[in-house]
Amino acid sequence: MQDILQQLEQKRSAARLGGGQKRIDAQHAKGKLTARERLEVLLDEGTFEEWDMFVEHRCTDFGMEAQKVPGDGVVTGYGMINGRLVFVFSQDFTVFGGALSEAHAEKICKIMDQAMKVGAPVIGLNDSGGARIQEGVASLGGYAEVFQRNAMASGVIPQISLIMGPSAGGAVYSPAMTDFIFMVKDSSYMFVTGPEVVKTVTHEEVTAEELGGALTHTTRSGVADMAFENDIEALLMLRRLYNYLPLSNREKAPVRPSADPIDRAERSLDTLVPDNPNLPYDMKELILKTVDDGDFFELQPEYAKNILIGFARLNGQTVGIVANQPLVLAGCLDIKSSIKAARFVRFCDAFNIPVVTFVDVPGFMPGTTQEYGGIIKHGAKLLYAYAECTVPKITVITRKAYGGAYDVMSSKHLRGDVNFAWPNAEIAVMGAKGAVEIIFREEKKDPAKLAQREAEYKARFANPFVAGARGFIDDVILPSETRKRICRSLVMLKDKKVDNPWRKHGNIPL
Ligand code: COA
Repeated sequence: MQDILQQLEQKRSAARLGGGQKRIDAQHAKGKLTARERLEVLLDEGTFEEWDMFVEHRCTDFGMEAQKVPGDGVVTGYGMINGRLVFVFSQDFTVFGGALSEAHAEKICKIMDQAMKVGAPVIGLNDSGGARIQEGVASLGGYAEVFQRNAMASGVIPQISLIMGPSAGGAVYSPAMTDFIFMVKDSSYMFVTGPEVVKTVTHEEVTAEELGGALTHTTRSGVADMAFENDIEALLMLRRLYNYLPLSNREKAPVRPSADPIDRAERSLDTLVPDNPNLPYDMKELILKTVDDGDFFELQPEYAKNILIGFARLNGQTVGIVANQPLVLAGCLDIKSSIKAARFVRFCDAFNIPVVTFVDVPGFMPGTTQEYGGIIKHGAKLLYAYAECTVPKITVITRKAYGGAYDVMSSKHLRGDVNFAWPNAEIAVMGAKGAVEIIFREEKKDPAKLAQREAEYKARFANPFVAGARGFIDDVILPSETRKRICRSLVMLKDKKVDNPWRKHGNIPL
């Protein structure tokens, strides 16, 4: 027995050592933690239950039969984050560069299958040189097995990816199908083809960092949600994100009681919106002053900044916040912001998270770049997302709600449950100036007349009462009471139930 126990310990030690001390040192020298160290930071202390520590690859080509490391380059299992179950896989770059073999993929699939059975999220810590080159198509098959599971798990359990090293070629598509992607600055990159191939094909000279680093994907491409300075910061922020999420689509997000009174009046909001409708203000201030404890977990903060998305709590309950940001492009909806918000609304809808929308939108962004880029189709994504969404929807129009964008931004007509407006809201087809220039075109040469028309138009339409008279707005509220009114609405909507008609799936304009 003693021998067997010793043998077991030896095997375990070998697995824990991964690709050996030299490669662990090299990993540390790059400022990266090892696969196991990362799990120690991510999970509650002592909760990690490891599976498949003794799995080995089955490859016999290129001398691989002599190179076997127990665990085969990925650490898998489950544990807890703040006492809540989570399944994890963490790729070990010290073992064949974390490259994915058939056996490595089977380990990932196993925990994904188990997570689906019990209804708990999967977090993947990605650090991999891609498909295990020695295994060829067996490795590609392994990827596809993971992709298939990513698709089946989508909308059933939250899936989160943290990119902590290379993720190239086929390796990008599993993270791409997950709900959130975090990256680490300077040590992670994602691209479909690397700089060398890019140079050969398109003659562009670009570094790995420029092509697919954390800044590229959080500012230009929108592929990733957030970028962090180092492994530890990224892992700790992932723990924070996790606290907002339900374990599966069968559950509601956890409630975290707060000492912040739900009827807290925020007088400064009464003067947040400038008198001049052309002046911007920071919508984030409204969010921070409205949510519990001023705590807003913003996603994609550096991408499509004309719309804000993220999680917060109101009365302890997780809500998804979507808000136009007048500070950037006057809060117009464009291609990027529509896609950004649409995907977020769909996540919230899939996982029973109410959506609170703050509206100050002068319309869709005009111009050939937008039209040629397909703003019609992409803007429709957001429209579609709000229209199919059945979770509680609360909307507050803080100033402008013009044209089609009024309809899109969680309007009453898209089954908005509670639609409020602030007293200075302007709900109209367009701004007064643009409107009179079209309706009274023949008076263009008479500025005094036009100014009078504009004033008339403003008095008639630049207010929330025309919409209120039709019931499109449930109430006109004081800005300072926004928190109280939303919290009360959420209580009223606690057991809301709406079903969409049966169908295989809808056909969102992709
Ligand atoms: N398959 C098998 N082994 C791989 C691998 C892969 N896809 N990617 C890396 N490795 C191995 C390397 O052979 C090396 O092994 P060693 O420690 O025994 O020398 C180890 O992983 C580390 O790789 P290395 O190249 O030294 O690390 P790096 O940080 O300098 O570069 C990469 C990392 C990912 C840029 C580089 O390894 C690479 O380009 N890999 C191939 C990527 C690829 O084309 N994948 C297939 C397409 S999906």
